[in-house]
Amino acid sequence: MGDYPQVKYDSFRESLPRDMRGLSVLDIGCNAGFYSMEMKRRGADRVVGIDSDDRYLEQARFASSVCNLSIEFLRMTIWDIAALKERFDLVIFMGVFYHLRHPLLALDLIHEHVAKDLLLFQSMQRGSRLVDLVAEDYDFKEVEVFNTASFPAMYFIERSYSHDETNWWIPNRPGMEAMLRSAGFEIEGRPEDEVYLCRRKAIAVPPDGPHSVYPSSNLVLRSNE
Ligand SMILES: C[S@@+](CC[C@H](N)C(=O)[O-])C[C@H]1O[C@@H](n2cnc3c(N)ncnc32)[C@H](O)[C@@H]1O
Repeated sequence: MGDYPQVKYDSFRESLPRDMRGLSVLDIGCNAGFYSMEMKRRGADRVVGIDSDDRYLEQARFASSVCNLSIEFLRMTIWDIAALKERFDLVIFMGVFYHLRHPLLALDLIHEHVAKDLLLFQSMQRGSRLVDLVAEDYDFKEVEVFNTASFPAMYFIERSYSHDETNWWIPNRPGMEAMLRSAGFEIEGRPEDEVYLCRRKAIAVPPDGPHSVYPSSNLVLRSNE
């Protein structure tokens, strides 16, 4: 993959605010801190990077201290972000979605607990790239639509893909865009093949209740008492 993620970043860096003074950033799945450090270099007031793996966080802390960049790196999984009790102007969620067994829940949690405005998002995608409008509703007898290339879909990887058993779900492009919209993120741009810049929108509570049920706000409150 070459000098990754520098090559990826170079392909969409211009679509991010050049001057980030006054803004806060949460980098979910920050790995060795590449995007966190770039956002701090753009002047972001406060940057928090979280990752589930201590080894990556050690690298991130080392790299940021060598570069003299003040960033908070925390060991935390996406499932616990409600505990941050803070919303961020920019949430970065790059390269994590397809590593999760419950990816849509992750988007719902980000919307419900930490996103204030912008979401920078990336997921591996496979299959169709044909995006079309989705209908408001489909009749029960409508079965052909599931065979069309533009129908939103996600592939489940039972064993392993690309020699990595943590690759669980890989959406096609229409599926990825539908899930972002459904979770309350309006797509403002796709500056690179798999990268989206989205804006958080308020979403109505659906008839079957709020999208994300874990952890319930009450549970978080109780555990902090
Ligand atoms: C493919 S790397 C992406 C790193 C970086 N965001 C990028 O785009 O280059 C996935 C990162 O997500 C972290 N990760 C995986 N599952 C996670 C979870 N449930 N919560 C938080 N981080 C997670 C991994 O430890 C790893 O650092």
